[in-house]
Amino acid sequence: MKNGEAMSKEKIKIAVFVSGGGTNLQALIDKQKSGVVSSGEISLVVSNNPDAFALERAKKAGIKTAVVSKKECGSQEKFEDMLIDLLEENGIELIVLAGFMSILSERFTSKYPKRIINIHPSLIPSFCGKGFYGLHVHEAALEYGVKITGATVHFVNEIPDGGEIIMQKAVEVEDGDTPEVLQKRVMINAEWIILPQAVEKVSKSLLEKK
Ligand code: GAR
Repeated sequence: MKNGEAMSKEKIKIAVFVSGGGTNLQALIDKQKSGVVSSGEISLVVSNNPDAFALERAKKAGIKTAVVSKKECGSQEKFEDMLIDLLEENGIELIVLAGFMSILSERFTSKYPKRIINIHPSLIPSFCGKGFYGLHVHEAALEYGVKITGATVHFVNEIPDGGEIIMQKAVEVEDGDTPEVLQKRVMINAEWIILPQAVEKVSKSLLEKK
């Protein structure tokens, strides 16, 4: 490889899938600006919820957005076909699930092996799988009484929260925590840090293989 050749490669095109507030999307946008994420570029934000505030964050950052509602599609198959069409039209090479509250079937995930990553707000294999999402994860952690929790970034396969782990970060539970307080601490001290780092790690390795 000649000098500078790697530099001239185009960045990995990333789609971020969202459903709600989009604070993890915001962390990715901010870390792209600051250079922590440099091997990939967020080219598209897709929401399954037309009212997701994450869409506003994307628009403010000048990123193309799309809404695909499962309800309007009528079936999981149609929903996933619409997503696949969007990804293909936009030349997407890496999908980041950042608070995306819809489970993708094996038909979808098997199309993108090691090209879909997810952020989950616990230390997998604790408090994960079907039914464990958003605030419910922190409610379960508090109910169990764990003293350490955290966040995990992992590849997505056909098993909900079952794909290979890319990065994890631990966070202490404190006396008197409510699910909301714990959720915020996990976001600030773990999610918003490791998601951009993991996105860079995976984008960099995909870029090297290009
Ligand atoms: C985040 O805590 C994320 O880890 C979690 O939902 C929240 C979304 O917040 N995801 C899951 O529970 C997936 N199983 P955000 O929209 O502000 O990024």
